Amino acid sequence: MRDVFNEQILTERNRIDEAAMFIFLNKTCFNGLYRVNGRGKFNVPMGTYKNPKICDSDNLLRVADALQRVTVVCGDFALAKDFIDRDTFVYLDPPYRPISETASFTAYSAGAFDDSEQVRLARFIDEISAVGAKILLSNSDPKNIDKDDDFFESLYGSYNISRVQATRMINSKSDKRGKIDELLICNY
Ligand SMILES: C[S@@+](CC[C@H](N)C(=O)[O-])C[C@H]1O[C@@H](n2cnc3c(N)ncnc32)[C@H](O)[C@@H]1O
Repeated sequence: MRDVFNEQILTERNRIDEAAMFIFLNKTCFNGLYRVNGRGKFNVPMGTYKNPKICDSDNLLRVADALQRVTVVCGDFALAKDFIDRDTFVYLDPPYRPISETASFTAYSAGAFDDSEQVRLARFIDEISAVGAKILLSNSDPKNIDKDDDFFESLYGSYNISRVQATRMINSKSDKRGKIDELLICNY
């Protein structure tokens, strides 16, 4: 199914097939993860599930209904600027900054989200903050492994930074899926 999904040539007619295959893969792949290789091909291995609910039609219909009043833009975060004014609440959930050399999972797509991208995002947040929008950002806490790592403190010096305990579900090693501190950064 993964090969078929990766090799299909998209036409208007097979968009529904594509959506069905995507849902099937998402509900049966390892940890429900979405990841592509350098050529943009979906490459998550098979998961182990006893009885996965592949088609939750009730939920799909409710989501479809909610999305009737929504504009979905797929692209770089900077494109969101035109949608933001002083009455907007903006939640940002970027690729997390890796907190160890072995946990360097930031590549959801072919271009990696490295530290320079984190800096570009912070400057974008400064811009939309100046417009008056309320902003909340989540990220990993580098202090989990190095208490002297002030990367986010120096990037977001004028923001409120708090720590929350989160359970990391997406990790290939089950013993690494425990509680970990994560950052919540906001301008209010
Ligand atoms: C931590 S995930 C967000 C998960 C999402 N909140 C959810 O619940 O499914 C980070 C996302 O940022 C996206 N991303 C990477 N680079 C980006 C960019 N330059 N602009 C916008 N989004 C980007 C990735 O494709 C990925 O989907």
